[in-house]
Amino acid sequence: FAPRILEGKRVLVSAGPTQEALDPVRFISNHSSGKQGFAIAKKARDLGARVTLVHGPVDLAAPEGVDTVPVRSAQDMLEAIQARHADQDYIIMAAAVSDYRPKRVHEQKMKKKDDEMAVELVKNPDILAWLGDHKPKGQILCGFAMETENLEQNAKEKLAKKHCDLLVANNLFTKGAGFQTSTNVVTIFFPDDKVELGTLTKEEVGETILKTMKTLEENAC
Ligand code: C5P
Repeated sequence: FAPRILEGKRVLVSAGPTQEALDPVRFISNHSSGKQGFAIAKKARDLGARVTLVHGPVDLAAPEGVDTVPVRSAQDMLEAIQARHADQDYIIMAAAVSDYRPKRVHEQKMKKKDDEMAVELVKNPDILAWLGDHKPKGQILCGFAMETENLEQNAKEKLAKKHCDLLVANNLFTKGAGFQTSTNVVTIFFPDDKVELGTLTKEEVGETILKTMKTLEENAC
């Protein structure tokens, strides 16, 4: 039984990968399972919040009592979040959004031809950066970062560039962290501080993030 410390709060969470179509049968994506974002959404619900979960294609059941919005591409996710961001108290971008998409989406299946082929990619919109630039007063914004090297430097740069209040970073190569696991090993970065958490379940990471956001909100008052 969880005390309902987020009663009356609105929380938006993004989760999972995005898929960027090449043609009607193929896409570019990544290994994100959606587990961390879904765990955060469920924890926020259990703590009493009204939760919206915008997620890419995943193999997870929609959590009961959560407003679930399935999307496919980064552009879809951007539009779903833009339509819902303004009245949220907390936003947590746990989705692994594809940084690039194919420049051209072929209408018909691409045919096998030469031994080599190149696909031109264009940059996707950065949803977290957009949210950071359009943050209503009082909203708390949390980003994620998965790195394979230079974790601290990359995390600090992202936090500043995307105007987040906190950024949860993990290293893909750390034991117990990463995409398909049920545990995570994260460090939470703030503009002037950082907190290293040990190996926790994704539910525990979710609870820590939400409680940290509540503390940030209270301290800002
Ligand atoms: O720059 P990087 O992709 O590592 O940043 C990770 C953070 O930015 C995550 O919170 C992710 O959800 C978000 N992001 C985004 N839109 C993108 C790329 C990343 O919102 N196009």
